[in-house]
Amino acid sequence: MTVSRNKFKKTLGSFVTGVTIVTTCLDNKRHGLTVNAFSSLSMDPPLVLICIDKKTESNRILKQSKIFAINILDKKQKNLSKIFSDPNNKNRFYGVKTTTKITGSPIIVNSLGYIDCTVEKIIPAGDHNIFIGKIKTLNSKNLDPLIYHRGNYLV
Ligand SMILES: Cc1cc2nc3c(=O)[nH]c(=O)nc-3n(C[C@H](O)[C@H](O)[C@H](O)COP(=O)(O)O)c2cc1C
Repeated sequence: MTVSRNKFKKTLGSFVTGVTIVTTCLDNKRHGLTVNAFSSLSMDPPLVLICIDKKTESNRILKQSKIFAINILDKKQKNLSKIFSDPNNKNRFYGVKTTTKITGSPIIVNSLGYIDCTVEKIIPAGDHNIFIGKIKTLNSKNLDPLIYHRGNYLV
């Protein structure tokens, strides 16, 4: 039986997620995109995973940089989620304050949390690549998360 695009989007979109911005740095240039295909993977060793569309610019950059940070958004950062998912926006970091921790990937100041990783492994899977990240450092604050459900932000 074939799986229709619409049913795939509707059913998978019914699962509630948080929202993250995955950032990296290549040749001193910051890059980032909005990602909700993110999961905890292993505690020992400490691993996480993100799924990135093979067609994106980010996929090409992440394969080269071999580092990324997952910035977990809080409910006041809906605008950032929109900016970092806009394919036409080439200046996504405009006005966004960032710092770095261990890998050099941008950490967005004021986010709910961050996970700073090196790329441990890349697993091709259909039209996406699974990037497994080894956690180098992480932290979080007690803020309310941005929530995504059925294509809408819940606040
Ligand atoms: C809420 C939300 C979640 C998203 N999650 C993902 C994701 O998990 N993986 C992905 O490849 N793209 C995801 N996207 C789409 C990318 O953010 C979008 O394609 C972006 O323009 C890619 O940037 P780039 O073209 O600079 O690589 C998501 C978009 C939104 C709005």
